[in-house]
Amino acid sequence: MRKRLWLLAAASMIVVGLVWGPVSAAKDNEMCVPMGNIILEPLTAEAKRASVTFPHAAHFGYSCRECHHTWDKVSPIGSCSAAGCHDVAEAPVDDVGQPSKDRQLQIRYHKNAFHESCIGCHLEIKRENEKLMSSRRPDAERVAPTGPTGCVQCHPADY
Ligand code: HEC
Ligand code: HEC
Ligand code: HEC
Repeated sequence: MRKRLWLLAAASMIVVGLVWGPVSAAKDNEMCVPMGNIILEPLTAEAKRASVTFPHAAHFGYSCRECHHTWDKVSPIGSCSAAGCHDVAEAPVDDVGQPSKDRQLQIRYHKNAFHESCIGCHLEIKRENEKLMSSRRPDAERVAPTGPTGCVQCHPADY
């Protein structure tokens, strides 16, 4: 995954100036921003689902910190699964094997972090759209584009 990410990063260096210009004042502080698809893969070797193709730049209408929420706007943006971040590979359980009630630990779990962010946002937009369309004066023009919320839309069912 690293390798693919860096290939994307290299291919996008030219466009970086465009994106990077407005968000940073420090010109000598460069960062490669992947503009194409990023392949998101599980941390566990026992994946239950196919990896997810994430169109990064399709999301640049949002602030970078919407997702890169610990970014200080100066340092390079790191991986979501960096140590101490969303680095837990398996569903956290307590002493008796039940799902852990420790919220900190649950969100460190890689899958939960991604599902909460990705599905959470898409679902919120979808719900707003549904509300809009079921109102007394439905207005299709105001329905906003959103992303997938169904399993196989993100994890293609190739196994
Ligand atoms: C908006 C996209 C999206 C949707 C919709 C989605 N997922 Fe995920 N899912 C991800 C991402 C991103 C990850 C983290 C990267 C990875 O593990 O491939 C992930 C991780 C997982 C994992 C842990 C890794 C693995 O393969 O074992 C499982 C299991 C999973 N998802 C199942 C589901 C199921 C079941 C649904 C439907 C209820 C679903 N996902 C819906 C994006 C999505
Ligand atoms: C909708 C969520 C989202 C938004 C908005 C977003 N990104 Fe990302 N970005 C991601 C995800 C997910 C990854 C993959 C991280 C990983 O693999 O751990 C990523 C990866 C990156 C990477 C590569 C990091 C690495 O691991 O080497 C850079 C750099 C980056 N983004 C910069 C930006 C910039 C700059 C913006 C704002 C213009 C931005 N991103 C907006 C979700 C987002
Ligand atoms: C803060 C809100 C937000 C977050 C977080 C977010 N998305 Fe999206 N996503 C959107 C919106 C809005 C669109 C529709 C963009 C458009 O069509 O202009 C979208 C579109 C998509 C699409 C479809 C793109 C296309 O070309 O049709 C995919 C796939 C997707 N998102 C995957 C993801 C994954 C995977 C994550 C988590 C890493 C994620 N999104 C996180 C808001 C979000």
